[in-house]
Amino acid sequence: MILEIKEVCKSFHQPRSGIIEVLNRVSFNLARGETNAIIGQSGSGKTTLLSLIAGLDNPDTGQVILDGENLCTMKETRLARYRAQKIGIIFQQFHLMPHLSARENISLPLEILKQEQISKRTDGMLEKVGLSNRQHHLPGQLSGGECQRVAIARALIIKPALLLADEPTGNLDIRTGEKVAQLLFDLVENENKTLIVVTHNPNLADQCQKIRTLDRGRLI
Ligand SMILES: Nc1ncnc2c1ncn2[C@@H]1O[C@H](COP(=O)(O)OP(=O)(O)O)[C@@H](O)[C@H]1O
Ligand SMILES: [Mg+2]
Repeated sequence: MILEIKEVCKSFHQPRSGIIEVLNRVSFNLARGETNAIIGQSGSGKTTLLSLIAGLDNPDTGQVILDGENLCTMKETRLARYRAQKIGIIFQQFHLMPHLSARENISLPLEILKQEQISKRTDGMLEKVGLSNRQHHLPGQLSGGECQRVAIARALIIKPALLLADEPTGNLDIRTGEKVAQLLFDLVENENKTLIVVTHNPNLADQCQKIRTLDRGRLI
């Protein structure tokens, strides 16, 4: 198993509504090479679940075990490095660095991890997502679909054990969203990646091997 989620609970304090229980004893496993979609209404806890899987937040109780290591008990500096090596994340709002070019955004994870052959690997990735002719553009000079392709390339360039995508087509028009989804699934399939995608989009969910639904804090 690449990922084991065990009995995870998460609540938030909100000034008006008091404590809200977002995830209630959520458990599931993900095998290497498997693709899963997580669907559910807005506010059902999908993003919260992804941030726990990504080690960006801690559950109140329960465990998140990524490639054999429990993220919840890892020290912060080690967790940061483990996360950078193991997980690629694609967000709805792209989250690119605005002052870096497409090329620099894509190579950044390799720079941070002090990897080798950065230039060659970046060239290869630009090619794969069809952005070689846009590599020196800043995010502000790119279309939404192009920005999301940069984000996909940045997530994949470290060859992550687990790829997470939160509404990756949510900010794109339907046609662009379909193209980006196609690219994402082609890359996932060709490279036998493990993927969790959170989405409202039934077309995206249908391309995954399994679909799980979050409903009132429970995974069904
Ligand atoms: N940091 C936070 N503080 C307080 N409440 C939060 C926080 N993050 C999420 N929530 C609440 O948790 C619920 C689930 O949010 P979220 O995981 O973003 O849902 P989804 O991604 O399915 O739309 C929402 O009611 C939201 O308001
Ligand atoms: Mg969300």
